[in-house]
Amino acid sequence: MDKFVIEGPTPLQGTIPISGSKNAALPLMAAALLGNSPTTIHNVPKLRDIYTFNNVLRVTGARVDFDEESGTLTIDPANISFLEAPYELVRKMRASFYMLGALLGKYGEAKVSLPGGCAWGPRPVDLHIEGMKTMGANIELEQGYVIANTEKVLDGGIYELDPSSVGATINLLLASVLRASEFTIKNAAKEPDVVLLCKALSNMGAEIDGIGTDTLTVRRVDTLTGIEIDNAPDRIETGTFMIAGAMHPKSELTLTGADPSELGAFPETLRKTGAEVEINGSTIRVKAPDTLKPVSIKTRTYPGFPTDLQAQWSTMMTQAEGDSKVTDTIYYDRFSYVPELVRLGADMNVEKNTVHISGKTPLKSASVMSTDLRASVSLVLAAMVAEGSTDVLRIYHLDRGYEDLEEKLSRVGGNIKRLDQDA
Ligand code: EPU
Repeated sequence: MDKFVIEGPTPLQGTIPISGSKNAALPLMAAALLGNSPTTIHNVPKLRDIYTFNNVLRVTGARVDFDEESGTLTIDPANISFLEAPYELVRKMRASFYMLGALLGKYGEAKVSLPGGCAWGPRPVDLHIEGMKTMGANIELEQGYVIANTEKVLDGGIYELDPSSVGATINLLLASVLRASEFTIKNAAKEPDVVLLCKALSNMGAEIDGIGTDTLTVRRVDTLTGIEIDNAPDRIETGTFMIAGAMHPKSELTLTGADPSELGAFPETLRKTGAEVEINGSTIRVKAPDTLKPVSIKTRTYPGFPTDLQAQWSTMMTQAEGDSKVTDTIYYDRFSYVPELVRLGADMNVEKNTVHISGKTPLKSASVMSTDLRASVSLVLAAMVAEGSTDVLRIYHLDRGYEDLEEKLSRVGGNIKRLDQDA
């Protein structure tokens, strides 16, 4: 198992290229199964979750070629014969549950493991399943697996998501485009990852109305054709580095290859801390203020403040002069990073789904433990402004979602090394 050893504090100065998005690529990969010819996706990041999903696809008989050099992924569904996603793979990554919609939609049958819990709570999939039942699919649960089948053509109907869910919207789209005469998803997710999937499916030949709104209506088509498509830049990686650029008073970062239009209200929120944020096409420049101002936030669905940047924001707030609150309204329990930041000297405490932060506290090195992907990168951000040498343990979480993190940070002045934590 690897750890990072980070020597701080270091200001970050220079240019960081933004990678392709993990959460946008995964639904595109699932959609590739629906085509009757191969699909090629460009700008796919080299991340553990992508490799896991490649294997989930390969288990079915799909041919998957990943040219890592160019980030080009080609998926040929021609020889799919095994309509299952086994527990061993689904438990590694919840998004494997997209196989339910993709296999059911294309082949009318699927056996997909339930994902189980996660580091910050139960994260149910009831809406995915209820939505498919509403569509007309037969679904049973057996020994931890969802076993589903459908007629060739389903009536469809209307299903309202409560709460809105990115994953359920994606799964219901995948299940319905080749099956449901007419199916409407209300309170659908409007996150950019969902919009990109809708556009990809439309390019493949699907009929979807209301793209980008919270009401999506699908009308069945007989076949879909494989396409060539560019994956989006990673908006959460972008937001993470924007925060990194604001945390140390001498930092100034330029991010290239980003898509600022997918950041919602985030740049404006960051400006409230006193940071300079300049957007020019696909380039974003962030310059830290001499003194960070405290800014309280609440996570919301898109275009609100993303839950996937909540931990990084709290970490930055430990360096702001004054009190702030960070409330997560999407996941009520996503605060496992807090005790780790307290070990570094942060003054923060959790009350229900809010973390109260008092700043500015000088952070001092310690050993800290990653508990999930976003918690993990937050500990890296903290370590880079902490005095001394901090060990961030269990960084396999981080490898799921941040491509070349240590190279990217080293190039802009971070002092970060990857070592074997058990050596
Ligand atoms: N929910 C239900 N029932 C369901 C599905 C969701 O109650 O059947 C609830 C969840 O418990 C949560 C809310 O709905 O309270 C929203 O969850 P959502 O389904 O939107 O989350 P997700 O699709 O499982 C994706 C991202 C997450 C990101 C969330 C929210 C992927 C692979 N994952 O998860 O990303 O936090 O949307 O934006 O796209 C990450 O990248 O670190 C990450 C966790």
